[in-house]
Amino acid sequence: MTHAQPAPAPDTAPTVAAVVVLAAGQGTRMRSSTPKVLHTLGGRSLVGHVLAAAEPLAAGTTVVVVGSGREQVEQHLAEVAPTALPVVQEEQLGSGHAAAVALAAVPDLEGSVLVVNGDSPLLTSRTLAALVTAHDAAGSVFTVLTAEVADPTGLGRIVRDGSGAPRAIVEERDATDEQRAIREVNAGVYVANAGTLRRVLSGLATDNAQGEQYLTDALAPLVAGGAPTAAVRADDPDDVLGCNDRVELAARRRTLNDRVLDGLMRSGVTVVDPLTTWVDATVTVGRDAVLEPGTHLRGGTAVGDGAHVGPDTSLTDTQVGERATVVRTHAVGARIGDDVQVGPFAYLRPGTDLGAGAKVGTFVETKNAQVGEGSKIPHLSYVGDATIGRGTNIGAATVFVNYDGVAKHHTTIGDHARTGADNMFVAPVTVGDGAYTAAGSVITSDVPPGAMAVARAPQRNVAGWVRRRRSGTPAAEAAAAAESRAEAPREDPSGPSRVDHDS
Ligand code: UD1
Ligand code: CA
Repeated sequence: MTHAQPAPAPDTAPTVAAVVVLAAGQGTRMRSSTPKVLHTLGGRSLVGHVLAAAEPLAAGTTVVVVGSGREQVEQHLAEVAPTALPVVQEEQLGSGHAAAVALAAVPDLEGSVLVVNGDSPLLTSRTLAALVTAHDAAGSVFTVLTAEVADPTGLGRIVRDGSGAPRAIVEERDATDEQRAIREVNAGVYVANAGTLRRVLSGLATDNAQGEQYLTDALAPLVAGGAPTAAVRADDPDDVLGCNDRVELAARRRTLNDRVLDGLMRSGVTVVDPLTTWVDATVTVGRDAVLEPGTHLRGGTAVGDGAHVGPDTSLTDTQVGERATVVRTHAVGARIGDDVQVGPFAYLRPGTDLGAGAKVGTFVETKNAQVGEGSKIPHLSYVGDATIGRGTNIGAATVFVNYDGVAKHHTTIGDHARTGADNMFVAPVTVGDGAYTAAGSVITSDVPPGAMAVARAPQRNVAGWVRRRRSGTPAAEAAAAAESRAEAPREDPSGPSRVDHDS
């Protein structure tokens, strides 16, 4: 898995003793039955992005404060960050209270702690590292990350004194008109000495517009007491943008996608249309790969060097080999080998594994299907629960009949087989190496290597049927015309064919 931002080099990487993620808030403005921090963008949840950004800080302890929708959040954490410790804030009494609850869960913690809102998905490892470095360099006990933004509406303002030193963080609802004009805002990211933070949080009041214990109120008393504090601006103001409703979620998603695509293009990937191409932060794409318009790459997808993906293709948790082409395709949990051709209009489902140089063509669906090197399934087929050898060709309109209504069964086709068009392979069944099957066959028993299997009713032509049973139709007229032409003497180039006569 790669992260959107590279981690700083290990020898210079700053570290913290603990990371505390505040994720207990209700997220009322999302108007959702899903807890806010579980909403997703770019392949991770909001809280997942925050945890990924903090990961290179190598904190020995990661605490996530949960509350609203705690069961769902805890379950998610068990999946994405199993070493993180969820701590329950029973009542959402404010961000300061949440941080205090977190620290109470790790009473022996000493040293620096990074406290971060769980709803800032654009935070980068680089920005966090710079914050911790600045905190350490200043000998600060409390350092807040800030950003200069065009529109500070709704955010806490950073109040500095005449010398530029931070004095207080004032929430918008509690700010004077003069303070509201300030465009430097609180990112909701703080580094503090654990002991100092514990002490100051225990004394927080609730005399503000929301009647909550604000984490932001930790700064002013420290300044007043003469403790060393700092406020550090982020290089990129986008880093600090939170996410409080679905309009903001869409905007963050767009920004994140732009960052991911910029990174890919700088590393040698052609993105034909960045506006319609969506790539998760967790995806990797090799050099000289081309992403056509309407391409969506999700989850653990990895695209190899020189591959060509799209247009109009969605790949989730799918590996694409070097130089492969994948056109108008939907794939989930598939492996596409080097030089493979897929599509247009293919659906690759989990367990699909296409060997080098294989082809899965138009209107083909595959599931749990191993396809050997150079084998082809060019047209209109369903291949489920199958193993196909190398160099084999599957005829058009073939169905691997894998389901008997109760259980799934497997079909095995050997190397260099040639199966006819419109076959049914009624599993379990095996077709040997080098075997052929006739078009239209329903294969219900094994075919030995090198055999030709014919499993269809013999053809019977009922001569004159149309003239007798459909007289007066255009078909009958056409047949009569053809018969009278045939009566005229001429060379017949075709051999004799079997003709039945009905009684
Ligand atoms: C907060 C900051 C604001 C800052 C902004 C940046 C406070 C008081 N204000 O405002 O200065 O500019 O973030 O985005 O902190 N939470 C809990 N338990 C609670 C309350 C909140 O865990 O009882 C968590 C939330 O889940 C969220 C974070 O704390 O992740 C911040 O809370 P939120 O309500 O989003 O604060 P903002 O109004 O965005
Ligand atoms: Ca917020």
